[in-house]
Amino acid sequence: MPIQSLYGTIKVPGDKSISHRAVMFGSIAEGKTTINGFLTGEDCLSTISCFKKLGVNIVQENEHVTVKGNGISGLRPPSEDLYVGNSGTTIRLMLGILANTPFTSVLTGDDSIAKRPMNRVTKPLKQMGAEINGNDSGNKIPLQIKGGNVKGIHYDSPIASAQVKSAIILAGLEGEGTTSVTEPLKSRDHTERMLEAFGAEVKSDALTVSIEGGQQLKGTHIEVPGDISSAAFFLVAGAIVPDSTITLQKVGLNPTRTGILDVLNDMGAEISYQNVNEEASEPYGDLIIKTSSLKGTVIKGDVIPRLIDEIPIIALAATQAEGQTVIQDAHELRVKETDRIETVVNELKKMGAEIEATEDGMIINGKTHLKGASVQSHGDHRIGMMLSIASCIAEGDTTLDQSEAVAVSYPSFFDQLKRLSNQ
Ligand code: S3P
Repeated sequence: MPIQSLYGTIKVPGDKSISHRAVMFGSIAEGKTTINGFLTGEDCLSTISCFKKLGVNIVQENEHVTVKGNGISGLRPPSEDLYVGNSGTTIRLMLGILANTPFTSVLTGDDSIAKRPMNRVTKPLKQMGAEINGNDSGNKIPLQIKGGNVKGIHYDSPIASAQVKSAIILAGLEGEGTTSVTEPLKSRDHTERMLEAFGAEVKSDALTVSIEGGQQLKGTHIEVPGDISSAAFFLVAGAIVPDSTITLQKVGLNPTRTGILDVLNDMGAEISYQNVNEEASEPYGDLIIKTSSLKGTVIKGDVIPRLIDEIPIIALAATQAEGQTVIQDAHELRVKETDRIETVVNELKKMGAEIEATEDGMIINGKTHLKGASVQSHGDHRIGMMLSIASCIAEGDTTLDQSEAVAVSYPSFFDQLKRLSNQ
């Protein structure tokens, strides 16, 4: 049923990318790392569970985590498989770290991870000296990795992916000589920023990142800002639900992640900023969104890596914008938790959207009146949240199958949505 309005202030949960990295880097650092604002979503809990199996002392109490690391050489052979659940970041970054451990680990995950390509990281890591075997010649789980004796390489990545860049840089951290990665477009740079916070020296110019081997990380304190990819659902909700004003506190504003703000701005959304600040090299601030008249836009090129995870919710915004929205250059969506071009288009069509898939994106014609329908998250957290926001403006009832998937990145999503709609 349509919601009358959304009103109030919420603090979205901690950034997923930063939470993963804080646990991983703390696990291979020397000394104690404390983390505040940790995301307690299933993906980040998978990272904690894997590093515990590698012998790291990690204590998690809600959003506070303490990690006691003993360097990469302090990691111990796991006595069971490292299960990453649904988390692509866990498996790909961990492979980079395990390229430096002289023992064998086996990495597995859920049905979605089983379909996702791993050769984007296993190929360069093998070039660096890691021994990796797995299904489909090391492209699919289960993957077996034995590391040690890494040699630095230069890698020209065919895709703009922070997971690929990070895996190679993490492997290079203990390797011999220099490791560098050049990507076609700039992807999120949390690894570069956080390695520096852990005392490492990382060089970045426009599209190339490089690191000297043999650097030892030192434990530190990491304050995790709110996840702009989670805030995105309420930014769009606030713009498309009538009579709404939502304040989102302490949202991460790293420029490699703020493509959604640029696009919503182009579409005519009324967003304002307050309390902008910076901690551990990560900028953050409060965002205020009001109900807005949106218009269609074109989204392509170098903004795509800056909003790749937000495209499902941007597609919903486009159904409520006057005119046409075209999304191009987003082929990577086909290898996310689901094929997000197919799942977004098929599920929004069930609700009456005028939306067509293209090879590398979608074309959406607005503005359409959405109607309630029986829809599916397909086990994909971001598809589940996008459809839940769609149901807030749809005429009639919507039922969402596999709604529990939202816990992967946003366990409090339904509670916060309810709170905003009751005020
Ligand atoms: C992430 C990078 C992105 C993003 C994912 C998190 C990260 O993936 O989609 O949700 O934390 O490095 P790619 O690096 O594959 O683009």
